[in-house]
Amino acid sequence: MVEPGKSKFQIDLRRHLREHEVDDNLVHLICEIAEASKYIINSIRTGDLGVAGTSNLYGEQQLALDVLADRILRKRLDHSRVVANMMSEEADEIIPISPDCEGKYSVAFDPLDGSSLVDVNLAVGTIVSIFSGCDLLQSGRNQVAAMYILYGPRTTLVYSTGNGVHEFSMNHLMEFNLVRENIQIGKKGSLYSPGGQRNLYTPGTEAFVQQLEERGVKLRYSGGFVPDINQVLLKGQGIFFYPHLKGKPNGKLRLLFELSPMAFLVEQAGGAASTGRGPILDVEPEHIHDRSPVFIGSKDDVALAEKFIRKLDIEKKKVAS
Ligand code: F6P
Ligand code: MN
Repeated sequence: MVEPGKSKFQIDLRRHLREHEVDDNLVHLICEIAEASKYIINSIRTGDLGVAGTSNLYGEQQLALDVLADRILRKRLDHSRVVANMMSEEADEIIPISPDCEGKYSVAFDPLDGSSLVDVNLAVGTIVSIFSGCDLLQSGRNQVAAMYILYGPRTTLVYSTGNGVHEFSMNHLMEFNLVRENIQIGKKGSLYSPGGQRNLYTPGTEAFVQQLEERGVKLRYSGGFVPDINQVLLKGQGIFFYPHLKGKPNGKLRLLFELSPMAFLVEQAGGAASTGRGPILDVEPEHIHDRSPVFIGSKDDVALAEKFIRKLDIEKKKVAS
């Protein structure tokens, strides 16, 4: 029998962060983001599903919910007193909060990733990347923490402060309680989540997919980056990719708001995240809204993708030029 008060399900997010000796300001910041997510869920459950009538920097139509989720997070971060700069996928520029960087953090976030799935009631999420100090335009390797919140049939929060990856689930009182600590991803997977149109795949990606299919790997793609990464992390195996496409050499997903934080989490779990040429976390961003192709998940599968891309995309290109 589990001793009263000792069950691991009783460990909430704040306690878990404190027990892992996370800096007080960072504990506060992560808990504020967790708080904000409660209002975001509420908006998803009860809010206006229509369009806002505006578009973001990428020309994507904004939903009323995108705008609302963005506002909820911004306000929370603005009032937290521990944020220096913030940057939202829905904004055009960095939003300065405090000129004083000492002991503060800078945060990049995608408030409602996969929002085009909201009208059909599929899972969506919030993704957050955290740096110490003022600078947001740096490689993902420098992140001090990353997290996401998945709004599915249940609400799941996954975070890392560089000390393993930990999963929490929201209970009926809207508290996040620990489900699993130190999640690990196996080297080779049996599922794949392929983004982008296959007829636009380059020869390297196409050969990679064929190899996976020959191996009997199953296709499991939800259309939402957060649930697709959550699947790989919690199943402990598999690969998600949104590759470079013919005519779209940088793919679709955004480095600072989507890829760096997920790469941080997946590497912390023993997996890998690559552009197809090298680690996502080593990419030095030039612009806040940079995009990159991504292959992320089980280490050997990511290495296999890199091998095919090197052989059929990069080397062939060199010979042709
Ligand atoms: O924000 C980007 C996103 O919605 C991700 O959640 C998802 O992985 C991807 O785009 C899906 O793109 P597509 O609509 O091209 O399949
Ligand atoms: Mn997104």
